Amino acid sequence: MKLFDVYSLYDIEPVRGEGNYVFTADGERYLDLYGGHAVISIGHAHPHYVKSISDQVAQLGFYSNSVQNSLQQRMADLLGELSGYDDYQLFLVNSGAEANENAMKLASFVTGREKILAFDKAFHGRTSAAVAATDNPKIQAPLNRTEKIDFSPLNDIEAAKVKLATGEYAAVIVEGIQGVAGIRMVEDEFLQQLRELTEATGTLLILDEIQSGYGRSGRFFAHQHAGIRPDIITAAKGIANGFPMGALLIAPHIKPEKGMLGTTFGGSHLACAAAIAVLEVMRQENLVENAAEVGEYLIEELGKMPELKEVRGRGLMIGVEIEGSASELRKRLLFDHHIFTGGAGATTVRLLSPLTITKAEADHFLAEFKKLLASN
Ligand SMILES: Cc1ncc(COP(=O)(O)O)c(C=O)c1O
Repeated sequence: MKLFDVYSLYDIEPVRGEGNYVFTADGERYLDLYGGHAVISIGHAHPHYVKSISDQVAQLGFYSNSVQNSLQQRMADLLGELSGYDDYQLFLVNSGAEANENAMKLASFVTGREKILAFDKAFHGRTSAAVAATDNPKIQAPLNRTEKIDFSPLNDIEAAKVKLATGEYAAVIVEGIQGVAGIRMVEDEFLQQLRELTEATGTLLILDEIQSGYGRSGRFFAHQHAGIRPDIITAAKGIANGFPMGALLIAPHIKPEKGMLGTTFGGSHLACAAAIAVLEVMRQENLVENAAEVGEYLIEELGKMPELKEVRGRGLMIGVEIEGSASELRKRLLFDHHIFTGGAGATTVRLLSPLTITKAEADHFLAEFKKLLASN
């Protein structure tokens, strides 16, 4: 059988990971500033993570959501403590798209309304409502296209005001920082105004923190820089360091009903063991603070490089706008300098390193990047 060929692949195969590095079968080492697409939060093969998952799978890997599973409550307690949302409710799923899908569905259940407002260049996933709320017609099949989802310009509160005044929208969905769009900043003031506007119009505010959350921005969630509290927050990617998992954090005013949401795999014993280990390591190693510190340092140092057109971001979610082709530059970073990075569009290099990156590793990247830009 052949693989369904939908991914553009680099000709390289990492077979082992340790800390902030991955290794190929011939033992070559690569610095990971991509985190396997913002997924590796606590570094590769962290000993506490490996032990937690190994112990759990030997004990009980899975049972259904029809029995007690105290690991879910343990995860909820830890997440509440670390994120500052201990009064919220947790619902566990398996991916980012599924988290957003459920968030929009829940908003529609709660408000009785049919429409969702999203923003230009948004990316919310590839399932039905999530892809309809994604501003990219190329990845929407005819089945996914719907008049129930509208787009408004990001950071333009007046445009959102006109739409929300109709009272038709169940929710507004917005990323903490737009990732796939190329690290596009959502202004703090815009988020604050959006919070007021959604409250005034009985619309729920959904913060998609799938890429920008879990410490990446230097706060637990990126919207916390703006000091607001959304009605629903979605998380995935770094939540279980590579084990597939997604989550909804749901405000106390939203009341659950039996059967309203559900999933077979969501919140499994093994997924919870992985997620608990991630939160324990984040707390033990102060990884949100590390993301803030090393991220600020990287942004400052990259900002001094005259060859770069723009540097955007917060914490360890950084977009570097270059002259020329980002994919060419990334290829040279990978094959000539042994550094993995991410892309976003034709001219943006995206840095999404594990939250464990050290200042010495950041310095190594900066030195190699300088060399590469000088030779260009
Ligand atoms: C902001 C955002 N939302 C949703 C998703 C979808 O997540 P998943 O690929 O886990 O379905 C992504 C993935 O890149 C994302 O960046």
